[in-house]
Amino acid sequence: MDFNKSTTKTNLARAFTGECLDGARYQFIAKQATKDGFSYVADLFKTLAKNEMAHARVFYDHLIKNCKGELSNIDICAGYPFHDYELETSIKESAGAELSESKNIYPAFAKVARDEGFAEIADSFELVAMVEECHFKQLSEIDEMYQNDMLYQSKEEIKWKCSNCGHEHTSKNAWKTCPLCSYPQGYVMLNLQDN
Ligand SMILES: [Fe+2]
Ligand SMILES: [Fe+2]
Repeated sequence: MDFNKSTTKTNLARAFTGECLDGARYQFIAKQATKDGFSYVADLFKTLAKNEMAHARVFYDHLIKNCKGELSNIDICAGYPFHDYELETSIKESAGAELSESKNIYPAFAKVARDEGFAEIADSFELVAMVEECHFKQLSEIDEMYQNDMLYQSKEEIKWKCSNCGHEHTSKNAWKTCPLCSYPQGYVMLNLQDN
């Protein structure tokens, strides 16, 4: 199939745009988290933003490689999630967007790409979907901890670690101020299953 007439070309442009939006929004959320004193949460969002921009690059490169010099404006006609970046709501909203990318959007794009004969592009959609599933799990976990005020406490004794100086301590609650570097609680690393 002629790539320039394919739905895969449009889907790549849609996916690229979605990844850029996710990347931008995660940077906004990271800034908000820093402002709110959640420095380690901010670090996690910065990493997510970096991941999304890497995905954007993969899709962009497929476009460049396959269009054979025929790249012009691509009409993508698609809807994208726009939500605020307050931590209260944005972590949950972000998790929802990741779930929809991993379970619906990218698997559907992969199928179209495979049907149209673009196996390599289909593989990329599937691989990105797997990462978005990890993002979904991580964000769901952070959201649950945040909503239940359990970011820095645990039912059992666990090991807490300062993301600034590396100080570690085992207890049910994380310190308010790190006894080694004096950085605030927001620098304590979260105990996530999917890290
Ligand atoms: Fe992504
Ligand atoms: Fe993601």
